[in-house]
Amino acid sequence: MPPEGIELTRVPAHVGVVMDGNGRWARRRGLPRTEGHGAGEEALFDTVEGALDIGIRWLTVYAFSTENWKRPADEVRYLMRFNESLLLRRRDELNDRGVRIRFAGRRDWRVPRRLVRRMDEALDLTAKNKTMTLTIAFNYGGRAEIVDAVRQLIADRTPANRVDERAIRRHLYVPDMPDPDLVIRTSGEYRISNFLLWELAYSELVFTDVLWPDFRRTDLFDAVREYQRRERRYGAVDT
Ligand code: IPE
Ligand code: IPE
Ligand code: MG
Repeated sequence: MPPEGIELTRVPAHVGVVMDGNGRWARRRGLPRTEGHGAGEEALFDTVEGALDIGIRWLTVYAFSTENWKRPADEVRYLMRFNESLLLRRRDELNDRGVRIRFAGRRDWRVPRRLVRRMDEALDLTAKNKTMTLTIAFNYGGRAEIVDAVRQLIADRTPANRVDERAIRRHLYVPDMPDPDLVIRTSGEYRISNFLLWELAYSELVFTDVLWPDFRRTDLFDAVREYQRRERRYGAVDT
């Protein structure tokens, strides 16, 4: 049974999520910020289940931005370890559910080697899965992604007249990923914060006050209902 009011034939193919508000969730409970990140795990996995329930094919979650290195060293270290252990803890379950795990972002020297190894293991383990692709945007910045694509085009000696939107798209971190139809941001912030800048040109944006650790599949379903009420025009007029 689909959730009330969702048309399964018009479910967004790709949903992006800016998982924000972990720090505030923790502060409201008098806990250290890192406890909020830990509590975000349940939110993420319930959202994955919800996405599977309604047949979303692509889910992309913003886990760590190129700007998040500015945070206190303790918090950054916690986030690196947390993501490493999360991959280890959850990869079999995701694999069993037919989820293909991918990563978008820069693998620079700041990302611990152990985490890179876990990322590669998760990629390999789930590479053949077909039910849904979960892309984890990690050390990801939308501007960095565009810069990296342009660098690659130049390194390939692409002639200027061959640099077009298709050429740039082919050099994005996940070239076969469709643009997100719907992007959700939690915690009452109304900004993009460098998430998927190229890809979200025509995405529908839904903002919610729910803090990420409190987000559940029912909140995902609410966002999908909101999405289904929108009219997408892509710059054209209705005929
Ligand atoms: C989002 O929650 C998680 C990351 C950015 C890694 P925050 O840590 O940004 O939480 P707030 O915005 O401070 O509440
Ligand atoms: C965006 O949240 C990044 C992630 C959710 C990983 P931030 O909390 O870093 O964004 P700002 O600083 O509020 O714009
Ligand atoms: Mg934040």
